[in-house]
Amino acid sequence: MSLSEIGLVGLGTMGAALALNIADRGFRIAVWNRTAEVTQTFHAGAGDLAARITPTQTLAALVAAIAVPRAIILMLPAGQVVDDHIALLRPLLGPEDMIIDAGNANFHDTNRRAAEAGDLPYLGIGVSGGEEGARHGPSIMGGGKRADWDRVAHIMEAISARYQGIACATWMGEAGAGHFVKAVHNGIEYADMQMIAEVYGIMRDGMGMAAPEIGAVFGRWNTGVLQSYLIDISGAVALATDPASGQPMLDVILDRAGQKGTGRWTVIEAQHLGAPIPAIEAAVMARNLSSRLDERQAGEALFGPAPRLAAALDLDALEQAMIAGKILCYAQGFTLLAAASKEFGWGLPLPDVAKVWRAGCIIRSAMLDDMAQALAADPGQNLMRAPFFADLLRGAQQGLRDTVAEAARAGLSVPALASGLAYFDMMRTARSTANMIQAQRDFFGAHGFARLDGTGGAKNHGPWAMG
Ligand code: 6PG
Repeated sequence: MSLSEIGLVGLGTMGAALALNIADRGFRIAVWNRTAEVTQTFHAGAGDLAARITPTQTLAALVAAIAVPRAIILMLPAGQVVDDHIALLRPLLGPEDMIIDAGNANFHDTNRRAAEAGDLPYLGIGVSGGEEGARHGPSIMGGGKRADWDRVAHIMEAISARYQGIACATWMGEAGAGHFVKAVHNGIEYADMQMIAEVYGIMRDGMGMAAPEIGAVFGRWNTGVLQSYLIDISGAVALATDPASGQPMLDVILDRAGQKGTGRWTVIEAQHLGAPIPAIEAAVMARNLSSRLDERQAGEALFGPAPRLAAALDLDALEQAMIAGKILCYAQGFTLLAAASKEFGWGLPLPDVAKVWRAGCIIRSAMLDDMAQALAADPGQNLMRAPFFADLLRGAQQGLRDTVAEAARAGLSVPALASGLAYFDMMRTARSTANMIQAQRDFFGAHGFARLDGTGGAKNHGPWAMG
């Protein structure tokens, strides 16, 4: 059998799907999994594609099955297991051979691994789209040395999703840049999912709508400005029925959300960078709170259930709230990317980030093409002020305001929408209330403040100051 053009380690759900995708695109691929049986089962189930797939039983056999210079994709859970596999592989590889971490790594780990690799080729790539995307076309965010990316770009582009014929696979920058972009993608994913869940909650609890009715609403919204993968699947899950009980599927699912950490990483980095992403923070907080089921039950027993009736809201207001909320969570994500790009000297191509997200990934949505255009026109701007989105926000902000206000009255918790609104209002208020904060800081710590009239620099003190 002729040598493979690429190798892959880790035949879990994502790895197996990616390997089939690579073979489907005409590349020969060698695969290895720690459990030999998994490799055999995978190969046996690969159908026609099996001819292009070489199953191997040891890492040495994997390496021997790949043409030099080699490229080997790791599709493994984030963390130590990646380091362990790099340590096992490196001694078997030559100086031109490349390791590509395609898992959801923390970008700090990718920075470290790239530094440890030194001159040896190493890429960290973000891959989005879940199993379906990995199998038929994910969105790929590359990070590492440009020359290393260029060596495998033809494979990445061939296996990626396409938006109007354009491959959704792009080099983002050095070292951890690709994994950072992927983490921010996931942060936006968290916020968008949370906003949809909040609007679902208003329909379910505030308006008394049944899951199938809610599914129909999401279905309608998916034909308009909100058209997106997440609205689409939210409609589908709301329409689904539990075969065991005959009830709507949503009504039998425990309300405790899982998370693997990418949302948290995004929030932590944003805090380090001083980049405000309140809707994403609220979404991570909401997942954390969701897991405190016992405490929530104790709270309801103590305070009684919230009033819940949101009679003053209609579905149009909710749709407008979603439109405004969605723009604001993307805007926050892109401002975080801009801050990170500056801090780490990556030169992230922000319009290209929007472009690779147009297809294949979880946050793909009709808005992303307009975002790519807005960022191409002015890469540094906050999307909420880009003319196209400013117009949308002017139209939708009242719906967001009404939704948050009425939800608050009804005791329906909408942290991501409310945080989006608070961000919007702060970002459109020329005279904020931070003058009070500065006065307080000066009062108790003599930290000094700048005056509106510009006199005295930043070290003025109030009449309360000692000495
Ligand atoms: C994607 C997803 C993917 C994944 C996360 C979800 O872009 O394909 O973001 O990476 O679904 O594992 O993460 P949580 O488990 O944290 O929700």
